Amino acid sequence: MVKYGIGSVLFVTDPTEINRLQHLAVEKTRLHIPLIFGFDVIHGFRTIFPVPIAMAASWDPAVATKAQAIAAQEARSVGIDWGFAPMVDIARDPRWGRIVEGAGEDPYLGAAMAAAQVRGFQGDYIGAPEHILACVKHFAGYGAAEGGRDYDASYIPESQIYNVYLPPFQAAVNAGVGTVMSAYMDLNDVPATGNRWLLHDVLREQWHFTGFVVSDANAVKSLKNHNYAKDFSDAALLAFNAGVNMEMAIDFSAYQKNLRALVNDGQITVQQIEAADRPILEMKIRLGLFENPYNDEARSQEILATPEHREAARLAAERTSVLLRNEGNLLPLSKSGFTNVAVIGPLADSQMDILGPWVFQYDLKETVTVLSGLRNRLGPQTNLNCAPGVQISRKFPSFFDDILHLKPEEPWGSDKAKQEMSKAVDLANSSDLTILVLGEAQNMIGEAASRESLDLPGRQEQLLEAVVATGKPVVLVLMNGRPLNIKWAAEHVPAILEAWYPGTQGGNAIADLLLGDAVPGGKLPITWPRDVGQIPINYGHNTTQAPENQGKRYWDEESTPLYPFGYGLSYSTFQYSDLKLSHTQLKPGETVDVSVDVENTGGTAADEVAQLYIHQQSGSASRPVRELKGFLRIALQAHAKTTVHMSLGSDELTYWSSANKSWVTESATFDVWVGGNSNASLHANFIVSQRGSDPGHSQLK
Ligand code: NOJ
Repeated sequence: MVKYGIGSVLFVTDPTEINRLQHLAVEKTRLHIPLIFGFDVIHGFRTIFPVPIAMAASWDPAVATKAQAIAAQEARSVGIDWGFAPMVDIARDPRWGRIVEGAGEDPYLGAAMAAAQVRGFQGDYIGAPEHILACVKHFAGYGAAEGGRDYDASYIPESQIYNVYLPPFQAAVNAGVGTVMSAYMDLNDVPATGNRWLLHDVLREQWHFTGFVVSDANAVKSLKNHNYAKDFSDAALLAFNAGVNMEMAIDFSAYQKNLRALVNDGQITVQQIEAADRPILEMKIRLGLFENPYNDEARSQEILATPEHREAARLAAERTSVLLRNEGNLLPLSKSGFTNVAVIGPLADSQMDILGPWVFQYDLKETVTVLSGLRNRLGPQTNLNCAPGVQISRKFPSFFDDILHLKPEEPWGSDKAKQEMSKAVDLANSSDLTILVLGEAQNMIGEAASRESLDLPGRQEQLLEAVVATGKPVVLVLMNGRPLNIKWAAEHVPAILEAWYPGTQGGNAIADLLLGDAVPGGKLPITWPRDVGQIPINYGHNTTQAPENQGKRYWDEESTPLYPFGYGLSYSTFQYSDLKLSHTQLKPGETVDVSVDVENTGGTAADEVAQLYIHQQSGSASRPVRELKGFLRIALQAHAKTTVHMSLGSDELTYWSSANKSWVTESATFDVWVGGNSNASLHANFIVSQRGSDPGHSQLK
């Protein structure tokens, strides 16, 4: 390290080792510049929080800020200064495994969650005590990988780049993010890590970003794999000229091997090297690494053990779950109504799976599965029995399986597999109620974990149907990071709770939700397809010829989703009324206030997420049928009513017009809908025109 002049170290998490390396850097290197330690702090460090797509399902940016502040405090305590998050890639293809790491399909929700996470990681300013530097990633367009295959090329039209893919990144930059990670894939045939338009024109010139850009791991060397760079020296030159300040590399670094020679050859100047270094040094200074380079190992043990962190994880898991179905109000379960309860499924008692994909420093001893959560809540008077029924694992094992020591699946048809299935079905038969916990193992989602099918993996569908065939009441708890094909379940299973991967305290949170100690209030941050063939499907699509046929575009399936974006049920019900606009006519640049009454019409105190959608009826380019432009999660006592205000101004009414090649706010009629999901029907409209304002009236249709 001293010999090669390394300035940053990744993936060391032991505080003693971090201090040892830091002493070497500070005491033994020529310039005594401290190292910066980076790590993937994605959804928690020691305390594991729900995965990012779940956080988006909370529609509560404050919960994301709090979770990432705790993750930052835990990470910083051991000496990690820099986290490789938030991941803000818009993802509209659930086959792509990394959909779990972002906020879903929508740029507006994505931008809100991006900024919230940056605030959580970094605090009020870079260098705030017990916080870390954030790194927004993967810049940009990674979520559009062709076929949902991880790392594959993306082809994104300019209008979608500006209107859909970039807004969450820009929100992170506006929130003061200190670093940006360049993505792996080709964007319209130019690799993101060698893409000067992205890394310089957009990031530096349009957005005035002053922090530093780090490449994704080995992405600089990879420019050669893209058939873009001739060799590693060319790769270093292309990435450097594009605007990559720091190369993240495993084994060897193209920068380290080639930049000196490139300077000697006159291809790069020393001034350019200094300019690229400056923001890295600036971040080290702002983080306070020169004054306080070392961590306090004893203090870190206290921080990692903080009970309030686990409590925050439980609350977050409660706020992120989405109730998809609740026929006959099976949920919440009555605590005394069931004596014999079966908890069935391969994920029912799996500590590793409930944590989700990006976890390294977790503590399994304190990880609560659904079975243990129910045990904690129900006590000895309920007879709880568990059977996995089936096992799940990947068809093609990956190198991650070795790291995680995963066992291959028991071959289907073997005696053992048959016995496991019948044991589970017998258990369901002899119980008053079955809670089925199904979904994807935590290694089936995340990086290098795309799927070509959205079916419940393994034999879980057979298990589900066999358990439902017993005729006993069944609650399905889903654990997954992408929408799955639950078409059959959505018709035959009375209650379905989407729990995502809820983290360390997931089991306790799920038990609270099932038993009514907490009320589900999350909403889907992604359109839920009926089947894989509908992909891509998102609520913010354009409409074209024969819009009346929009829902019947396929010969063999509806073209509407199974569940719309923004959807989620509650144990209560809500009524929206009295939609009012402060103006019915406004000039470009003016703001309209939208207000609506929301009433909790049920008998349970519960949360609702009021969502505001707009549609521009005409313009220089076709506009999506609906676009989310405001939301608010509100808590309402039983039968209480409140008025919610949201506003629409230039930020919401401006878009990138591919016809004009610029941002425009156009004269047009705008529709407004407010309600509890993207099919909201309460409607009004207003006109933007040069003619001016007409305040005080609302036009209801
Ligand atoms: C590759 C992933 O794409 C990125 O998200 C991650 O931060 C780095 N590896 C470091 O682990």
